[in-house]
Amino acid sequence: MPLTAKGLEGVVAAETKLSFIDGEKGVLEYVGIPIGELAESSTFEETVFLLWNGRLPTPAELADFNEQIRDRYELPAGMEQRLLSLPRDAKPMHMIRTMVSALSMHDTNPDANDQAGLRRRALNILGHVPTLLAFFHRYRMGLPLVKPDRSLSIAANFLYMLNGRKPTDTMARAMDICLILHADHGLNNSTFSARCVMSTESDMYSAITAAIGSLKGPLHGGANEGVMVMLNEIPSVADCEKYIQNKLEKKAKIPGFGHRIYKSYDPRATHLQVLAKKLAQDTGNMPLYEKSKAIEEVMLREKAAKGIYPNVDFFSATTYHCIGLPLDLFTPTFVIARVGGWAGHVLEQMANNRLYRPDVDYTGPRDVRYTPATKR
Ligand code: ACO
Repeated sequence: MPLTAKGLEGVVAAETKLSFIDGEKGVLEYVGIPIGELAESSTFEETVFLLWNGRLPTPAELADFNEQIRDRYELPAGMEQRLLSLPRDAKPMHMIRTMVSALSMHDTNPDANDQAGLRRRALNILGHVPTLLAFFHRYRMGLPLVKPDRSLSIAANFLYMLNGRKPTDTMARAMDICLILHADHGLNNSTFSARCVMSTESDMYSAITAAIGSLKGPLHGGANEGVMVMLNEIPSVADCEKYIQNKLEKKAKIPGFGHRIYKSYDPRATHLQVLAKKLAQDTGNMPLYEKSKAIEEVMLREKAAKGIYPNVDFFSATTYHCIGLPLDLFTPTFVIARVGGWAGHVLEQMANNRLYRPDVDYTGPRDVRYTPATKR
């Protein structure tokens, strides 16, 4: 009788050199470097280089890597037309999943699965995703598209294309820190999806498309939007206790809390909380931040003993709101960051691939005879 690990809890399905997590102590490192040090001193582009190469770049390598990404800020010919033919009310996560898949048809060699070929495909997706998101947002709002500016970082250029004006250094850096903190996280569901698809020797676009489909779910990356919906539903700090108690009585899961791996504070949430507070002060959003803290207080009192703490999505909601992102771009913005991790895992998978094909415990009937339709 095979053992079933529901939700694959505790199953080790791959080896990785990308990120290390200690869920008891609340530790997250990318290639051995504590996430806090990267958030403090690195850039998203440098962090992606680290994840794809297993080491930090030299200044010349980073400059070259930046150039390669910026070469891809512009969409391939035909993609803009394709985007402008989409329904304006399409949900951005559906749009980005579809358009990343569509990118493969504008690539002359989408199935190049050697390491160099995969890296080129990964760069394409990394460079194009922010443009697709910003273009789609302006298109649905009836605003003129803002062409990418290759003098800007991924974070600053994304905000520029979205809003039509260059972000302040504070906002650009806040966006950059968010991208760093969201870039990779072990064998989470979307990363596993990407590795699983790639293990069939499919292609980078298919792997990332599958990962986006996974990230969209409210139990995964979609939770940051759920957090914002919850914050909007609660009128004031004074209402937080009642709102949360009500939900808990109904056995509802509170978005932004709980994690399969962390049984203590998610270190990403620690950093995002500091960022959220600073941005809330700067942008007049302290009531939102204070509601977050009031919810956290109730949840820690009620659930910390069970190992349920804020996860990455909890304070990222307030942070994204203060940066000025529309609610339904929260999860797509997570996509920009996680392309770094997903692609790194695909590269790692293909460096030592074996097809993922777990077993299943069959629990249905056996030895049943076929009944002809006339006798049913
Ligand atoms: N609120 C209230 N109770 C919770 C929460 C929560 N957010 N999360 C877990 N619990 C409780 C469950 O009800 C369950 O209680 P029980 O033992 O009395 O039945 C227990 O904790 C274990 O929960 P599971 O759902 O079995 O834990 P699992 O590891 O499968 O799920 C998950 C983890 C999906 C993240 C879960 O905590 C959850 O749904 N959280 C809310 C959604 C969320 O924030 N997702 C984002 C995660 S971070 C990311 O993916 C980027």
